[in-house]
Amino acid sequence: MAPFSPLLSARSITKAYAGTPVLKGVDLVIAPGEIHALMGENGAGKSTLIKILAGVTAPDSAEIAVDGRPVSIENTKAAYRLGLRFIHQEFNVVPTLSVAENIFMGRLYPRRAGLFVDWSALNAAAAKALTRLGIDHIDPRLSLGQLSLGDQMLVRISAALLDDARLYVMDEPTAALTREESERLFRVLREIRASGRSVLYVSHRLDEIMALCDRATVLRDGRAIDSGRMAEITHDDLVAMMIGRKVEEAYPPARSNPRAEIVLSVSDLAASGIGPIDLEIAAGEILGIAGLSGAGQAELVKTIFGDMRPTAGSMTLLGAPYRPGSPAAAWARGVAYVPRERRAQGLVMRRPVFENITLAHLHRQSLGGVWLTPGRERAFARNTGQTMRLKSAGPGQPVFELSGGNQQKVVLGRAVAGAPKLLILEEPTRGVDIGARFDIYSILRDLAAQGTAILLVSSDLPELLGMSDRIAILRDGRLDAPIPAAGLGEDDLINLCYGRSAGRKTT
Ligand SMILES: Nc1ncnc2c1ncn2[C@@H]1O[C@H](COP(=O)(O)OP(=O)(O)OP(=O)(O)O)[C@@H](O)[C@H]1O
Ligand SMILES: [Mg+2]
Repeated sequence: MAPFSPLLSARSITKAYAGTPVLKGVDLVIAPGEIHALMGENGAGKSTLIKILAGVTAPDSAEIAVDGRPVSIENTKAAYRLGLRFIHQEFNVVPTLSVAENIFMGRLYPRRAGLFVDWSALNAAAAKALTRLGIDHIDPRLSLGQLSLGDQMLVRISAALLDDARLYVMDEPTAALTREESERLFRVLREIRASGRSVLYVSHRLDEIMALCDRATVLRDGRAIDSGRMAEITHDDLVAMMIGRKVEEAYPPARSNPRAEIVLSVSDLAASGIGPIDLEIAAGEILGIAGLSGAGQAELVKTIFGDMRPTAGSMTLLGAPYRPGSPAAAWARGVAYVPRERRAQGLVMRRPVFENITLAHLHRQSLGGVWLTPGRERAFARNTGQTMRLKSAGPGQPVFELSGGNQQKVVLGRAVAGAPKLLILEEPTRGVDIGARFDIYSILRDLAAQGTAILLVSSDLPELLGMSDRIAILRDGRLDAPIPAAGLGEDDLINLCYGRSAGRKTT
């Protein structure tokens, strides 16, 4: 094969923040008609490199060429004119505008008599853009903020695909998508490749990358490693390139030993969209909840955490009646929650890391008449950061400056720092790199061993199987009786989620 002439070549890219280098001379070369993965641990610099290509962040130095012609990408308009389209990790949408307005943002709206915006034409065009991804359940007239995180992502992807471009850059597009939605996206990405255009793709899901991508560029310690052809390397090779060591086990060995003491007991619980539900979690137990998307996971979690009113039934916490009127009330009873939408529900982005971690623990921290000094507050945050292997400049760094996966670690760190009685986790390792996952799983196992009851809601089947003592299936708002996780496989879980019995193969 003749060497390709690259669609995009970015060479010797360097970037430092406040004197700390992130990229130390990185090369990234993308061929026409390929899906190219950009990989690396949390904080490796993937989003930074992408923002440089997008004209959002200025590099300290860079040599970029498109179709062999040197270019300088000074702003987002320049990137757009070069035929580059971006779906950033952080949202670039306006939640108060409608779906249709978000899709056509920055473009000419259809107008009547050249004057008034033709809203029905705009909505119809938006519906057509969504159809490309096989989406017909999203009303283009709704304001974007009303949609789930996954649906918002589908809208952003539709907008990026609206007009023909050379290169589509997607920073963790599937982090908020269900399996089915991801599959639809992959079909579109393969079409793009078949038409000779290219995709730069970021994900922490290695199976996804191995199935979809032709090559990878791996960032580590500020430098780039070219993976070569994906077809010629293994999963373990990729992990070694990313973190420089082998990961022996994906899950720490189970050693939680559920005790007799019941931490949470739920009976005949009903709320909007769910119920009646019965459920018991023992001290030291990790109970997994599996289900197809929208089976009632969000409602169940919100009801237990006091964010949604039950319409019937009762709950007890450690034997005492439990009916929290608000998340704060639940927290005060020793119930901690890691939400799936960390930006919306989890973090105060402009505030420093230490405040985000300690804010929720101020009460406990200042008990016993000891004044909470800023020094103690920072020390507490520093300890939590170390346990989570947080990559930040220090406890004083504002959270928005952290990489996406490190923001997730702040939310997790805050929840586990208080040694809660009950810990509710929703998609806890979404966006977290493969090395840090193991650490987080170990922390969860430690907590369980100390008696914390953990409710793990996840769409990541290996995670559910690897971490849970028992798993209960949520289907159409009803919860089946939990079954022991040992001996179950992914196929069994999928069958159970669809309402078929485990172990029976469908043809
Ligand atoms: N505006 C900023 N100010 C200071 N430091 C920053 C800023 N933006 C990013 N950084 C730092 O640059 C490093 C790389 O961050 P980046 O977001 O590129 O990582 P990433 O590879 O995308 O990680 P993730 O997988 O977690 O999304 C991190 O250490 C981060 O804290
Ligand atoms: Mg990132």
